[in-house]
Amino acid sequence: MAEQGTHLVLVGAMGAGKSTVGSALSDALGRPFVDADEVLSAETGQSVADMFAILGEPAFRALEVAVMADLLAVDEPAVVATGGGVVLDADTRAALRRQDTVWLRAEPATLARRVGSGAGRPLLDRDPAGTVERLAAERAPLYEDVATLILDVDGLSVAQVVRRILDAPVDPPGDAS
Ligand code: S3P
Repeated sequence: MAEQGTHLVLVGAMGAGKSTVGSALSDALGRPFVDADEVLSAETGQSVADMFAILGEPAFRALEVAVMADLLAVDEPAVVATGGGVVLDADTRAALRRQDTVWLRAEPATLARRVGSGAGRPLLDRDPAGTVERLAAERAPLYEDVATLILDVDGLSVAQVVRRILDAPVDPPGDAS
């Protein structure tokens, strides 16, 4: 997988490894890497935590939708790591269905271990393990809806995840056959 002309986009819950895998994938493919949360922070001059605290979650979501639309409209194919809540917006989901979108799926125990205390993730200020499990379960149908490829990442190294994505058969976006 890594079709020309579309972006390779990573979706999944907090702690799924989107940013780490995305960076390694971009090295492997020689494509630019963009992390949507980092772009958002650079554009607003605020961390994600500050955006939630100062602007509020609805404003953060509106900015997230705008940034995703901008990133996916770029012609040069990139590897894009998204924030875990990016699939909440219907227009973003429609745009993601036109990309090579990979759902990095992980068991609740894996997510809980990786997010740890939830530092830097405002939605995980309280009960990080329970919250990440609940959000992952609630959003699973949305990740599935946009995914060209679903990859179970539990127990896999970053290099193994990258290899499996690169080896996956290409399924052209929009090809219903
Ligand atoms: C969020 C995930 C975060 C970040 C924000 C909200 C979510 O990104 O966008 O804290 O709603 O799941 P990561 O998935 O990269 O942690």
